Amino acid sequence: MTTIAFDVYGTLINTDGVVSRLREWIGSQAEAFSQTWRSKQLEYSFRRGLMQRYENFAVCTRQALDYCCAEYDVSLSAEQKDTLLQSYRVLPAFSDADESLVALQAEGHRLFAFSNGTTEAVEEVLRASGLLKRFEGVVSCDALATFKPNPDVYRYFMKEAGDSNDAWLVSGNPFDVIGAVSAGMKSAWVKRSDRAVFDPWGVEPTVTVATLSELCAHDL
Ligand code: 2OP
Repeated sequence: MTTIAFDVYGTLINTDGVVSRLREWIGSQAEAFSQTWRSKQLEYSFRRGLMQRYENFAVCTRQALDYCCAEYDVSLSAEQKDTLLQSYRVLPAFSDADESLVALQAEGHRLFAFSNGTTEAVEEVLRASGLLKRFEGVVSCDALATFKPNPDVYRYFMKEAGDSNDAWLVSGNPFDVIGAVSAGMKSAWVKRSDRAVFDPWGVEPTVTVATLSELCAHDL
């Protein structure tokens, strides 16, 4: 029996789920806008962590959306922005998420969602996609008023889950994998695209998988 922390956004939940709505409003810029929105959201979380100017992850998301509107020179009304932010609260799961969680649960593993998002936001998005019931619990970095990859948040996860020796993090985000391994966890990187690049820091994932379904083939 292994304790497994699943990153949420970008691992279980597809942050590109807003692209179809964006396409209606801003056309061919939608994909690029969505990618910039996601990377700015993360940049803001990193910077807020470093500067010790904590605001929760939803604030990073909203401010990153405002930034993108300025960078892409698109003017969205307050209602359109609210609609996008509401979509973010109920983003879809990746298609392999539920069956993989069911299989890992059947193998007897303890599954947790572990995210920068507040507990409330994580529960809402996982409930909307039908995944919440697969988890023993939700652990949010919000409790420490900081974000991944601060080592304290991975230690906090291990303490909350009651497992300081063998816990795994499963994440599609290389910065998260490096953060977890550096803090003493094992970690699976979900390399969802052939073109995804792992940061060349000399800290490697314990295993790399192309999909969540492949996790079951590994001896976690
Ligand atoms: C999460 O913590 C990093 O977005 C990622 O869910």
